Amino acid sequence: MQDNKNTIAGWALAGGIAALGLSIISGKVFHADKPERPEKLGYVIEGVVSSEGEAAAEVPIATLLASADVAKGEKVFAKCSSCHSINSGGANGIGPNLYGVMGKPHASVAGFAYSDALKSKSGPWTFEEMNKWLTSPKAYADGTKMSFAGLGKAEDRANLMAWMNTQTGSPLPLPAAPAPEAATDAAPAAEGGEAPAAADGAATPAADAAAAPAAG
Ligand code: HEC
Repeated sequence: MQDNKNTIAGWALAGGIAALGLSIISGKVFHADKPERPEKLGYVIEGVVSSEGEAAAEVPIATLLASADVAKGEKVFAKCSSCHSINSGGANGIGPNLYGVMGKPHASVAGFAYSDALKSKSGPWTFEEMNKWLTSPKAYADGTKMSFAGLGKAEDRANLMAWMNTQTGSPLPLPAAPAPEAATDAAPAAEGGEAPAAADGAATPAADAAAAPAAG
């Protein structure tokens, strides 16, 4: 029995060593001591990426422009007026004068020293382009001198653009808003028109049945 006890003790020791070894290895493999951060945290910090902002982004800017509030847009411009004048012939400030900017080529105000980033943009300031610029100037023109974070709310951008489009001698036509989907929903309602015809057919046997006893 003495031998047997030693054998049991030996196995127990071996098992303990094996378990220790396993825990060390598994610790290395699974980073048990340093749990990894989940790739996506459960909350988003930036206000710009709020769920409200995401929902608004799905609405085409043309749709928002169609119902834009010009008076509200003028109020949004308070965020711009420290750097921009927008009256006709107004002086350039930290930023260029913005009179008539909608529809004008990028970086085209005389006497303003634009960044290369903005000068490299070709074509006119359309509503689409201006919408991207105002969402995030940096993302639109990396290296821009305009130190403004951007307007996170699509409604604010639409209202502001609609107002800016009034500060000009020649307003741009608003982009055509996509047709509302409700129009296609009207079709099934027309099928209801057949119902009265069926009722007419049903009336005939009933009239016959009523006539039968009288005949008999
Ligand atoms: C801190 C100052 C500052 C603020 C605030 C600011 N801008 Fe600017 N803006 C600039 C500067 C500087 C430029 C020139 C950018 C460049 O050259 O890269 C510029 C350029 C522009 C341009 C391009 C003009 C052109 O001739 O191509 C537009 C449009 C514009 N800003 C609109 C706005 C609007 C709208 C707001 C408010 C929502 C605003 N900016 C807020 C400084 C500012």
